[in-house]
This record gives sequence, structure tokens and C-alpha cells, in this order.
Amino acid sequence: MVDALDGCALRVEKAWGTVLHKQNIILDQGKAMTATQPQTDHVNSPFDLANTEMYEAWCQSKLKDYPTSLADLVVTIKDPRKLTNEEREELLKRVQKANMAVYVADTGTDPDRDIPLKLASQMGIFGLDHNWLADDDGLTSLTVVDEGARRNFIPYSNRTIKWHTDGYYNTADKQIQSLNLHCVCPSATGGENQLMDHEIAYMELRNKNPEYIRALMAPDAMTIPARIDDGGTTVRAEEAGPVFSICPKTGNLHMRYTIREHNVIWKDDAITLEAVQYLEDLLNGDSPYIFRGRLEPGMGLVSTNVIHDRAGFEDDETHTRLLYRARYYDRIAGTDVLDVYPELSQ
Ligand SMILES: [Fe+2]
Repeated sequence: MVDALDGCALRVEKAWGTVLHKQNIILDQGKAMTATQPQTDHVNSPFDLANTEMYEAWCQSKLKDYPTSLADLVVTIKDPRKLTNEEREELLKRVQKANMAVYVADTGTDPDRDIPLKLASQMGIFGLDHNWLADDDGLTSLTVVDEGARRNFIPYSNRTIKWHTDGYYNTADKQIQSLNLHCVCPSATGGENQLMDHEIAYMELRNKNPEYIRALMAPDAMTIPARIDDGGTTVRAEEAGPVFSICPKTGNLHMRYTIREHNVIWKDDAITLEAVQYLEDLLNGDSPYIFRGRLEPGMGLVSTNVIHDRAGFEDDETHTRLLYRARYYDRIAGTDVLDVYPELSQ
């Protein structure tokens, strides 16, 4: 567990570059890393703009048998708390290909919080993000809340949430590598999700203009404004960083993004703004790579924090929407790009 977390923090820190001064960034995991530590663990990545041939080979492999509908991502399982080897393999296969899978389990409206927690541990992810509005066990209960701090935040309302990846406002060492959802009860109407593999978004942008990628990898591409509470206290500092970053240790791609205009300040140069517009048009268009669906009781999403949104919804007397959300600092085991496409390393 510690290794997975260390790896993630290390990857993000190096990838961002802007936070190399944070020498004790992973002290709480028992191993400090300093900015002077030699960076000898870089691997080649298809997401590096310098690697054109590798990128083209990756595109070819990635798009071969790529899912064409949400149904291709669905795996029927009996109990997420006790996956069979076959169920686990089927989930993993889909995450390896599309960075996401959807399960349909027999658990129905069972609110057992172990369902998402045990599922995640069987997928090799342990570094649960205990964000400040999460419940005591680290899961977040996404439901409409009318009181307390949660009422001020859109996930706890019934409003539409536009395209984003989770934790885009987190500091570099706390980026979310995996995002799982589990549905206990859907709303009476609405609440659908749209999903897009962030690697596909990268591909679409790079194929249109590689300079879009260069712009979105800049450490100051995207700045999340500070969050200031009602009393005027800064509770989260401004956070600048890239949209796309590459893990030096694994070559994996990470994406940090929100389309919500009030939540982000984009670098004010022509190519960045053009890239952002292209991405926005892609997400708001009719791309065949956008999957749409609604989680019903016992269903869940397993993902490496793909881009997603949520439609607005309405509850009624018999339907109070409740989804559990689990965010992790580590990536689902067995989904590193060079493990999925070993031919790229040859
Ligand atoms: Fe989200």
C-alpha cells in the first residue's frame, strides 16, 4: 500500500515540476523524497510528444477493439465484496482498454459500505482520499444535503455537474488516479453520467494539433482559484498545474480538468485557449467515444478517473439518490500503459 502511494506522489510531483521544492511531500508515507534525488526512473511514454513512433503504435493498439457502446463496458458480477477471478479479470480487461468498467451486481439497494471498499481492494487500490467532506471511512455519500458545509457544494445538490475529472483542485501530491462509484439508490428521474476515456481525449487533441498537448502540459496551464470560506479565510490555496501530466515512473497519463468556467483560470495565451476550446467542443459534441448511462441499484463504475459529468436529477418520496464515491491516490493495479501494451517497450 505504501509503495503504491509513494509511487503516485512521486510520479505527480516529478511530472508537475512546479512543486519540486516541496521536499517533504511524502513524509507521511514514511519516505521523504528531495528535489535533489536523481531522476533515474523515467520510462519512455507514448504520451511524451517526443515519442512519435511510440505514440502511433499506441494509438493503433488502443483503438483496436475499442468499446463502441456502454454495453461493452458492462460486467455482470454477483457480489463486489467477493469477486471471482473471472469477474475481476473481466473488469480489469475493460479498465485496461478504456480506463473504465461498469459492473452490475446482485446487491441491489444494499447500502453496505464494504461493497465499494472491498471491490477496490480487490482491484489493487488502497490509497483512499479522505477529502474533507468524505464520511469517516473515506467514502463519500453523494446525496442531496440541505444543511451543514455540504449544502454549499454541487455534488450534494441535484444540479447538473459539468465535465471534469475528480480532485482537479487537489495539490500535486494528492491527485486522484482512480475513481469508483457505487449506486445504492438512483433518483426518480435524471442523474445520468457521461464518460470519456481521458486517453482518448488526449489522442483527439494530439491528432488535431500536437501543440495543444504541449500547451496543456505546461505547469501553469490551469489554475484553480483559492477557496475562501464565508469568514474570509483561505481554506485551500490557489493551485496551478497542467491538464495532462505523465508519470515518469510508469509512463501513465493523468488528466486534471474541469469545464466549469468559474472554477478555473486558463493560461491566457492563444494556443492554450484554442486547445481548451477544442476539448470543450469535443466533450459537448457527439463523439462516438462518449458513453452515456445511469447507474441503477447495485451498479457501479470502476475507473482511472476518466472525464465525466452528471445530469441534474429529481428525487421523490420513494427515490432518494444515494451513490458512494471512492477516490484513490493509486491507480488500479495492472493498468499501467506499458503493462497493457508491452510491445511499446520493445
Ligand atoms: Fe466527479
